[in-house]
Amino acid sequence: MSQSVHVRAFRNLLGGGGVVDDPERIAAYTTDQRQLFTGSTFAVLKPATTKQVADIVRLAAHLGVGIVPQGGNTSYCGGATPDASGRQIIVSLERMDKIREIDPVSMTIAVDAGAILKNVQDTAAGVGLLLPLSLGAEGSCRIGGNIGTNAGGLSVIRYGMTRDLLLGIEAVLSDGTVVSDMRKLRKNNTGYDVKQCFVGSEGTLGIVTGAVLRLAPLPTRRATAWLMLARDAALAELLALVRRESTDLLTTFEFMTARSIALATAAMTDPPGLRAGSGGAVLVEFDSSSRHLDLDELMQAVLAEAIEAGWIEDAFLAQSGSQRTAMWQVREAIPEGEKRRNGSVKHDISVPLSSIRRFLDLADTQVRSYDADLELSVYGHIGDGNLHYNVLVPPDADRMEFTRRIESSLSLQLYDTAAALGGTFSAEHGVGRFKKHLLERYGDVGRIAAMHRIKTAFDPADVMNPGAIVRPLRKEPAS
Ligand code: FAD
Ligand code: MLT
Ligand code: ZN
Repeated sequence: MSQSVHVRAFRNLLGGGGVVDDPERIAAYTTDQRQLFTGSTFAVLKPATTKQVADIVRLAAHLGVGIVPQGGNTSYCGGATPDASGRQIIVSLERMDKIREIDPVSMTIAVDAGAILKNVQDTAAGVGLLLPLSLGAEGSCRIGGNIGTNAGGLSVIRYGMTRDLLLGIEAVLSDGTVVSDMRKLRKNNTGYDVKQCFVGSEGTLGIVTGAVLRLAPLPTRRATAWLMLARDAALAELLALVRRESTDLLTTFEFMTARSIALATAAMTDPPGLRAGSGGAVLVEFDSSSRHLDLDELMQAVLAEAIEAGWIEDAFLAQSGSQRTAMWQVREAIPEGEKRRNGSVKHDISVPLSSIRRFLDLADTQVRSYDADLELSVYGHIGDGNLHYNVLVPPDADRMEFTRRIESSLSLQLYDTAAALGGTFSAEHGVGRFKKHLLERYGDVGRIAAMHRIKTAFDPADVMNPGAIVRPLRKEPAS
């Protein structure tokens, strides 16, 4: 059957507004966020209801066409990008972007999977509640994509990852069955926790169409500080001090090297005078919904102890909203700063907190002996043991060629080091299409076997995001 016949069949299901087959408009959906790969598709489908999603899935399975679910297309591992075969369609959830219900008493919000993260945060804030998922892409990523990647971000240390915020789900399976479990329950021990199968599954097990998320009281007080670290500061001990002495009011503990800060501020017309110490910088934030706690006083006492211990050279406490914003802008502008300079080869590693310092030392030696001229941008959610250990692409280098070279050599050394310390090659960005070889290299054999079985049970015909993460097991031919 020709592709134009397929397009007509999908148009019959969705109407004109639900199918984009104009190659110029399709182009915006077929290149991944990092512009490392451009796939091919004959149509982008934009369902408006869960029923339409189910109809699409049934028709795609019947036509033998693969489905790539897409939210904001901000993910880093090529999971939202179709392959080059032209036999996969993109299902964009962008028309399914409603807030279904906010329940201030139960402190939950029910949303369509295409809702933009920022809109969900704002709706919650409107009734005095916090959706504690926050990341640089929040203005364009969508809840279904956050669930697909199990997004982490800037307040995981206090509130957990997307997985920890998910109470209920609605999803369409590969045969069109709808899982409708939009309950707002904290406690529900009634067999397998099916919703969690979709978290981090990157569209390979089904299409998430709705979610119920857990909210928290909206902070009314915040203390934000910029710490200039001493060389070789005991990071894990510093973090332990900050957590203990704040009674875990800590929401953010973000590490940045001087190079990352310079990249972030390079394009600012009026850059704040925020610098790194000889061991880098950390952005620390406490927040509280209580009006009875003096967080500034608490922060000052904690920082005094850290200076006393010799872990920080100096510290600045934000004295106003604009000073706080300036600190955050520096942190959040780092990925864009890397991009402006010709991009980076990203290593989203995590190791146990006790091994962070050891990882930094070993990785530094590896990079220097590989090529002493390489420049690094190292920053990240160090409070979660997660570092973005990025190698900058030299401004005059061919970005693709450089990326391929580093990824086939130095990257593996860095991942070996993370693995040897009990860590992982992907802390929050996923596996997608780009990191499958790393899953094979570092994944536990039994765990990968279990993943194959889960994929086979959910999607035996490999309709859902074929080529991402794992394939289903092949049926043995009858003897
Ligand atoms: P997409 O990129 O569209 O999709 C991601 C995956 O989920 C794909 O495999 C896709 O097939 C699948 N998917 C999408 N929608 C659905 C659905 N409805 N049902 C099933 N599967 C679906 N990540 C972090 O964890 N922490 C960060 O701090 C962070 N910061 C970032 C900062 C910037 C500037 C950028 C560009 C990205 C950042 N990310 C971060 C990456 C992160 O993965 C995404 O921003 C976000 O979680 C992806 O959402 P999305 O809607 O763009 O998903
Ligand atoms: C971040 O923490 O800013 C992102 O996860 C990393 C990135 O964009 O490289
Ligand atoms: Zn990150």
